[in-house]
Amino acid sequence: MACGSEPSAGTPAGGSTAGNGAPIPGGGETTTAGGGGSSTTNNSPTATTGAGVMPCDVANVVVNNCHKCHGAEPIGGAIRLVTPDDWQKQSPLFDPTKKVYEVARVRLADGTMPQGSVLAAEDLATLDGWLAAGAQASTDPADASCGSAAGDGVIAGGGADTTPASVGPGGTIDVCSKPGAYDPLVAEPGETCYEFPVHAPNSDGPFTVPNGESYHEWYYAVPWGPNDVWTRYGADFDNLPVLHHYLIFTSQAGRSPGDVAQNVAGTTLGTSATLIGGWAVGGCSTRMPDDVGGQLPPAPLIMIQWHLYNTTGAPALDNSKVQMCTVPADQRENIAGITFLGTENFNSVFGMPAGENHFTTKCQNTTSAPITVIGFTPHMHLIGTNMKTDLKRADGTVTTIFDQPFQFDYQVGYEIPPAVVNPGDTLETTCSFFNDTGRNVAFGESTETEMCYQFALSYPAGALDNGALSLIGALNTCW
Ligand code: HEC
Repeated sequence: MACGSEPSAGTPAGGSTAGNGAPIPGGGETTTAGGGGSSTTNNSPTATTGAGVMPCDVANVVVNNCHKCHGAEPIGGAIRLVTPDDWQKQSPLFDPTKKVYEVARVRLADGTMPQGSVLAAEDLATLDGWLAAGAQASTDPADASCGSAAGDGVIAGGGADTTPASVGPGGTIDVCSKPGAYDPLVAEPGETCYEFPVHAPNSDGPFTVPNGESYHEWYYAVPWGPNDVWTRYGADFDNLPVLHHYLIFTSQAGRSPGDVAQNVAGTTLGTSATLIGGWAVGGCSTRMPDDVGGQLPPAPLIMIQWHLYNTTGAPALDNSKVQMCTVPADQRENIAGITFLGTENFNSVFGMPAGENHFTTKCQNTTSAPITVIGFTPHMHLIGTNMKTDLKRADGTVTTIFDQPFQFDYQVGYEIPPAVVNPGDTLETTCSFFNDTGRNVAFGESTETEMCYQFALSYPAGALDNGALSLIGALNTCW
């Protein structure tokens, strides 16, 4: 189903057409507030409603760890968790026979909430203790005033945030604390930026988001030239409450620009596709260091996979635009490429048994020059729990350069402080799984099978690859 607008690839031309990544005009700073995950408005616990208040210690935990998504204006398909009443409602999605506070205990215990992070042990104890006792409103008058004390509850986000980026847990850089991290992208000098809109099939108009959870894939002609590299990607979000995550792929699929594959099975690696970027609710835009450009694998198409979550109870429309900015390769000192670390071997065809499983593989710098790793994007399936990469020096010293819990519905790229892998040094990557499926799980592309890919972004592009042929055809591997 070709789209009504011109499907031709190539040169960016004005106007947003469904089948082409349209360029974003450069120039003046945008002042649009908000954007991805920006829920800075109304983030504080509403301590003064008639519905009562949460105890202050609980409110603090919830504001700081949940309100990024579950605030007064929830985003990404999350529900409101602001007053004690909100916790007493029936669970809308997860288990409608239970109350939200009962479901919350399950989701905290299985590690799927908070999405994208982990609760500190004492915070978990505080929140879980309150939930276990029935999530009752506080009767202590002192708690009534903690709304303001619990603070603004402002998590990273909002155009005005200028906190310098910090190195967070697991060694990753909190890119969302960088200035402007949530703003729609505007081309900077030398850059050309392209937009890939969510649109209705055969039209430039907004897409009608089905009720509940759904996945869809949009195809576009590759708009940049063969010598361009990427510098940034992000989005101009439209209907934030229904957007859960997106993944950007280059694709060789036999599709036409403008095609929309609606209601696909779920998060996949894409058909004949190479992952080049991703975002999940709570995240923000991604920027290469100033001296690095990201290699864009040659392909005729871009495919963007969106996971939408419409819990508004009403039909919703969305016209969000994923944005990607490029420069000619000669404008960046270093060109970074993606290498697959990890493994495709889970006890060969037998697959991994029940319970905890860890698979560690090694990738050595066999060249005669240093290689610099600047980021990772872990990819596993439903039973993946953690991804870790250690840098082992030739003299035996080991530094953990990446260690993050894995959640299937939160597949994002992470920036790390540049890690220099010297000749002879080794990257040791460990994928952890918890197999509770009741059967052995082998490698495969469907979500009933598993993957263990740690996509490493490093420069010079290709230097880390040792070329072992992967089962899915990739040659840019190292294990
Ligand atoms: C980055 C965003 C994000 C953060 C942070 C987050 N959640 Fe969620 N949460 C979601 C989304 C999206 C859903 C709906 C999809 C799902 O069920 O996974 C959800 C679902 C839930 C549900 C199930 C709702 C139902 O259908 O019954 C509960 C309970 C929950 N979250 C509790 C929490 C708690 C408690 C915290 C903080 C400790 C938290 N979440 C932090 C995004 C988030």
